[in-house]
Amino acid sequence: MLSFTSGLSQDSEALAVFVTEKYVYNDRNSILSNNITQRINSFIKTLRTKNEEEISCIDISDRQKCFVIKVKNKYVSYYPQEKGGAFFSYLQKFKNIKKVDLYADSLNQDKEKLIKFFSEFISGFNLKSYTFNKYKTLNKKEVNSKINLKIITSYKKKIESNYKYHEAIKEGVFFTRDLVSEPPNILSPKTYVNEIKKLSKLGLKVKVYNEKELKKLGMNALLGVGQGSANETYLATIEWNGKKNTEKKPLAFVGKGVCFDTGGISLKPARFMEEMKYDMAGSAVVVGLLKSFALRKAKVNAVGVVGLVENMPGSNAQRPGDIVKSYSGKTIEVLNTDAEGRLVLADALSFTEKKFKPKFIIDLATLTGAIIVTLGQEYAGLFSNNDELSNKIIKASDNVNEKVWRLPLHKNYDKLMDSNIADVQNINYAGGAGSITAAQFLQRFILNKTPWAHLDIAGMAFSKKAASLNPGGATGFGVRLLSNLVKQYYE
Ligand code: BES
Ligand code: ZN
Ligand code: ZN
Repeated sequence: MLSFTSGLSQDSEALAVFVTEKYVYNDRNSILSNNITQRINSFIKTLRTKNEEEISCIDISDRQKCFVIKVKNKYVSYYPQEKGGAFFSYLQKFKNIKKVDLYADSLNQDKEKLIKFFSEFISGFNLKSYTFNKYKTLNKKEVNSKINLKIITSYKKKIESNYKYHEAIKEGVFFTRDLVSEPPNILSPKTYVNEIKKLSKLGLKVKVYNEKELKKLGMNALLGVGQGSANETYLATIEWNGKKNTEKKPLAFVGKGVCFDTGGISLKPARFMEEMKYDMAGSAVVVGLLKSFALRKAKVNAVGVVGLVENMPGSNAQRPGDIVKSYSGKTIEVLNTDAEGRLVLADALSFTEKKFKPKFIIDLATLTGAIIVTLGQEYAGLFSNNDELSNKIIKASDNVNEKVWRLPLHKNYDKLMDSNIADVQNINYAGGAGSITAAQFLQRFILNKTPWAHLDIAGMAFSKKAASLNPGGATGFGVRLLSNLVKQYYE
């Protein structure tokens, strides 16, 4: 919810004024006293000569500061959001500033541009302000203190309605980040399922398959991954029907939900193993995205499918060398139990294609360490059997600055996944190209040529460092990208 005010509040600690590149601003609502105007103007004079940074600050009284925020005349689509994020970061320098009046109408832009700018600016501010504090018991007050923005504008209604979309996306992103941040002893597949079930309240149709049902369906690739864990394995489908009676084919989003990846019998090294709690991030993006569809009543039919499982060693765990029969009927030789994400997705992909006959399938997974070697923490890997879908994803990614880089698929890489004694093996030790061969493996489980894209988000889902729209930790990478894709091309 946004809050508004008609003039400079008595109890606010700061005012934010927006200036153009030439340091022009308006006082359209005549809220600035002569004294304040003079102070701002003389400050701006010094800024002009120094060509000061993007955001600067002066005192306008002994209790109130004024932030001068410079806004470019021409900008890329994600600029307003990142500016909002930058303003939030800037405010962290001032521990005592908790109430800020944002003088939106001071920006010298036409009405439509101004409305759009501010709904996005505030959305960026909010995305950056995310915290995950539920397990902090000390200094509760300080930990939970928030900055309160009040907007000064005569376009209240328009900004509010424009902001609605961003609010829904933010809720989706925050839900994704919350799920990814939860420790693995709390977020087991079962508690995860319970979180997903709660989404029914919003009008999403949730169906959960337990181990018994998965066995009956023949999802042995997925089940094999969870075999060593005391926690039960699940598959959940989440449907959003926002486009009644017209085009029936839904858009499908599939996510890897490995609640913890020890590697199984092919055990991972201890160092940084704790990071493997975020191996469910792909599924969390799907869940957050579907939540945002419901919140904003997106005019689209969509389905999310997530495989939820814990990869543990144990006396009943899957062994390297085991052969499992997947839902598709294809047999898989499991050479390495740490290449488990693809086993989860194999069944989830074939099931999604068969059951929902979707227009396309996009899967998201923290699938390979190799994608971090290739693209680091800048780009997600994109793989696709369809140029049109792929190009749309790239455009949407450019719009929101959640970057993707397309990597190739090729029959020669595909061949590397042939097994000597089964239809396919889950890892290739000799051929290199770890992320590509993983994608080739997935492609073998798209049986009816459905347009499909795979996003390997292993480098993007979690970051120790803060970025323009997140404070570090779980990023929610993918929710904004796919929301934009759907909004631009499918609504
Ligand atoms: N969950 C990991 C991939 C991963 C690594 C995600 C680092 C995030 C950060 C995946 O299940 C895995 O272990 N992949 C193996 C595959 C290998 C055994 C072929 C890998 O990347 O080492
Ligand atoms: Zn693994
Ligand atoms: Zn994994």
